[in-house]
Amino acid sequence: MKTKDEILLEIAQKYSTPTYVYDLAVVRERAKELQTEIGQYPQTEFLYAIKANYNPHLVKEIINLGFGIDAVSQEEVKLGLACGATPDKIMFTGNNMTDDEMVNVHDLGVLLNIGSLSRLEKYGSTYPGSKVSLRFNPNIGIASHESNITGGPDSKFGISFKDVRQALALAQKYNLQIVGIHQHIGSGWLRQREPMLALDVILEIAEQIPGLEFVDVGGGFGVPYSPDQTRLELHELGEKIKNRVTEFCEKYGREIKLRFEPGRYVVAESGYLLTRVNTLKESISRKTIVGTDTGMNHLVRVAMYGSYHPIRNISHPRGFEKEYDITGNICECADFFARDRLLPEVIEGDVLSINNAGAYGFAMASNYQFRALPMEVMIEGEDVRVIRKRESFDDLLSNYNF
Ligand code: LLP
Repeated sequence: MKTKDEILLEIAQKYSTPTYVYDLAVVRERAKELQTEIGQYPQTEFLYAIKANYNPHLVKEIINLGFGIDAVSQEEVKLGLACGATPDKIMFTGNNMTDDEMVNVHDLGVLLNIGSLSRLEKYGSTYPGSKVSLRFNPNIGIASHESNITGGPDSKFGISFKDVRQALALAQKYNLQIVGIHQHIGSGWLRQREPMLALDVILEIAEQIPGLEFVDVGGGFGVPYSPDQTRLELHELGEKIKNRVTEFCEKYGREIKLRFEPGRYVVAESGYLLTRVNTLKESISRKTIVGTDTGMNHLVRVAMYGSYHPIRNISHPRGFEKEYDITGNICECADFFARDRLLPEVIEGDVLSINNAGAYGFAMASNYQFRALPMEVMIEGEDVRVIRKRESFDDLLSNYNF
């Protein structure tokens, strides 16, 4: 049997680099883990946050595992439908939603999750008597990075927890049926405290709204990226959630569904960005700079959030360890993947694997500096499938009347 490194190296040799590789076994394992550990409350549903990785081949697999879709653009809604999700398994949480999005998504039979009183008024006057979900900001936020916090006093997301009455009054004015309420406090958290506090707040809001079918507490489950981070205790968290929601249902007088919208947790660890080292040099201060054939245009998380990604030298994994700055090929100082990172000795031509790149990797990639997007490949055991071809120069030109 081939090792994972051998499979990755063969892919780099056969299809060239930069290439994103996703291991389906990891996606299945992580999805199952959520379903059994976080889904301990019997009526739990999972909607995959498709923004994390929208490759249709992956999305179809995740839908087949029993996930619905959390969509934040009308294009994501349509992609979810095209990948086989039924409209009742999709929710649209459009931020600063336009009239066009409201109408198009409603016409597709997909539930809208509305995050402002202004949009609720427009929705009610356009579709009186229909079903709706409301996104609230519980005034609690947590995330791996400051910029990924989506709850709190200055957040642009959701209706303030202080405006529940106004929201209810608008719903009444237009005879809207509030079937669900929602919150998403941030992305990439590895602690239980804030999510449990936020659960308390959303359940307090739920108590004031009769007839709810579900409470959706969003996604955000983090994965460890750096060696000093520890995995979330999913079983313990799931048990606490189950107990809290069961207790709520007894008070509320009926059972409700509990929804989660994980993105990162399902796909992050399945992904590898393979890149080849083409330049080694020393800086003036005698740091060794590794230059690769990819960059912040293909994986922006390090430049954008200062994120840590594990990096491996899969060509020479057993060499003597040395310290490197690992950089991309984009003409920007922010274009690096790691500083002062220990790696088995690197020579030009080596293939590096940037790990945990399955979430918000390709999905946030761009054509900056007019470079093509990488290829995407899926592996299932030793089976290797290209799931997105490498972009060509003609592809880059194709949207211009050139
Ligand atoms: N639900 C809503 C409404 C969201 O806005 C998000 C993420 C999720 C669910 C899924 O969160 P997850 O389970 O993936 O943490 N680009 C950043 C992450 C931004 C997340 C945006 N919203 C990153 O690379 O870390």
